[in-house]
Amino acid sequence: MSGGIFRWTAPLFARTDRRWDEDSVDVFAQTLAPYLPEQGRLLDLGGGTGALAGHLARTVPCAVTVVDASPNMLRYADGLPGVEAIVGDAAALPFPDDNFDAALICDAFHHFRRRDEAVREMARVVRPGGGVVIAELDAEALSIRFIALAERLLGEPAGFVTPAGMEGLMAAAGVRGRSRPQNRVSYIFAGEVGSGRPPDPGDQGDELP
Ligand SMILES: C[S@@+](CC[C@H](N)C(=O)[O-])C[C@H]1O[C@@H](n2cnc3c(N)ncnc32)[C@H](O)[C@@H]1O
Repeated sequence: MSGGIFRWTAPLFARTDRRWDEDSVDVFAQTLAPYLPEQGRLLDLGGGTGALAGHLARTVPCAVTVVDASPNMLRYADGLPGVEAIVGDAAALPFPDDNFDAALICDAFHHFRRRDEAVREMARVVRPGGGVVIAELDAEALSIRFIALAERLLGEPAGFVTPAGMEGLMAAAGVRGRSRPQNRVSYIFAGEVGSGRPPDPGDQGDELP
């Protein structure tokens, strides 16, 4: 599952809750809002300490489930009001199809080792017509190339993609949407799960004798 850095950086992340001011939480809440009915269900994938999930649980009208591969990160999410914390791998989500109204991935996608599977899983557990919102760092920005190098030295996959690359990855899993710049080095992809998801490549159907 996740590399080791979150074992020892978890207390540091727990102290960065302050980075979530009202405006930045609002950007996510507003982007997700069209997909979230009253008493809906939002998945925060790679949600770490649950800081953003905790803010969103107070802002959007639904329950927030944080899934993260690192128990050390997740223990800070445990017990946050309106937040359910589950240890799990983005590439093998422990939920039935169409379980959520929307999924959010913030600053976590590039840490996933099996990104194609994670995208397919996310599209599987969000209902058709549900929303997908991903905040990521742009692989082409110079400073992000240095961050990628540093993360690789620490054993992380550093799977950064460009805004257009993210649109392509999502489209391949049946999620149509657009990336828009957030600032000079980061972007937000916002899309919708289509009704005809592509078949799972692992499912070969009936074998001929
Ligand atoms: C940089 S932190 C971001 C946490 C949170 N989303 C935030 O914005 O504060 C990346 C998170 O991705 C999680 N992660 C990495 N690989 C994962 C995987 N395969 N499945 C689920 N979570 C994973 C890590 O454990 C870590 O908590």
